[in-house]
Amino acid sequence: MNPELESLRTQITEEIHSAPDLQTLKEVERRALGKKGALTALLRQLGKVPAEERPAFGKAVNDLKVELTALLIARQEEFRKSELEARLTRGDFDPTEPGMPYDGGRLHPLTQVTEDLVRVFLGMGFAALDGPNVEFEYYNFDALNIPGDHPARESQDTFWLDDGNLLRTHTSPVQIRAMEKFEPPFRAIVPGRCFRNEAVDASHEHTFYQMEGLVVDRDISVAHLIYTMKTCLREIMKRDLEVRLRPGFFPFVEPGFELDVTCPFCEGKGCSVCKQTGWIELLPCGMVHPSVLRHGGLDPEEWTGFAFGLGLQRLAMVSFGINDIRDFTGGDVRFLSQFYHR
Ligand code: DAH
Repeated sequence: MNPELESLRTQITEEIHSAPDLQTLKEVERRALGKKGALTALLRQLGKVPAEERPAFGKAVNDLKVELTALLIARQEEFRKSELEARLTRGDFDPTEPGMPYDGGRLHPLTQVTEDLVRVFLGMGFAALDGPNVEFEYYNFDALNIPGDHPARESQDTFWLDDGNLLRTHTSPVQIRAMEKFEPPFRAIVPGRCFRNEAVDASHEHTFYQMEGLVVDRDISVAHLIYTMKTCLREIMKRDLEVRLRPGFFPFVEPGFELDVTCPFCEGKGCSVCKQTGWIELLPCGMVHPSVLRHGGLDPEEWTGFAFGLGLQRLAMVSFGINDIRDFTGGDVRFLSQFYHR
């Protein structure tokens, strides 16, 4: 090693070992490794070292830096330990005092709602499926009985991509993908992200979450749909709630319904959450349209089904009492950390 480096090493090592306290140690550190320290000064002279010696010299300085840093840290640790021991013997440190509280992470309210639902539906024999966010027009619209000139397309303002594909406007396209992939009978749910090109306000987001449900079997009726929804509600709400169906129109179901549930906050008596009606609109649903089954490659003479499309934000808003949909993605941890039910 270069004699200058060697003597610097001996000197600083000695200083580190003999430093009587943390204060002095800091001073040694500053003089050796600080901006104006001895090692930094050496590195500055690198340009004056003959070119063939430069790499070896640079490396030697850096190695020394690493070595001294390790020594400094070890010595600091020694000081900390002896300080702690001193305090313990002096008796002014109470090791039984409670520690600083620390805050763990939490699941996002949407993740909680989704996980609860998935758990309940898996228990009822459903499979949880995934589908692409970038979707073909065919799966998002045509196969769901929404041809190009259908007015329903206008209610789903679409983000079209340059290549003619789109960001899926709902999770329903996975109905067709599921029928193509699985032999009936089957039951599936599809929680996932959807996109609509619409103005954002307290109840509309351009990016939102739905959970599609689909059951395909022989002789499926509206009774199966009602039973499934009531069972799901009982599992999640821990009690029996009434549901009611109102007619609703969706091109991919016939008949189509809006399913309401007794307001769980006032048990149907009327309150601000249900706007004094005693009912909360839960989800749109219906019996799978024969032409949708056909597009999925199934014979509607043999197979029947029901489907539903649950808005996950809406459900989370009702169950947690959140009144602005934008808060889910507002990124304010103080807001999100209020909603933790597990
Ligand atoms: N896909 C519909 C939407 O986003 C919601 C929907 C309605 C889904 C009825 C269904 C259904 O499965 O049966 O507007």
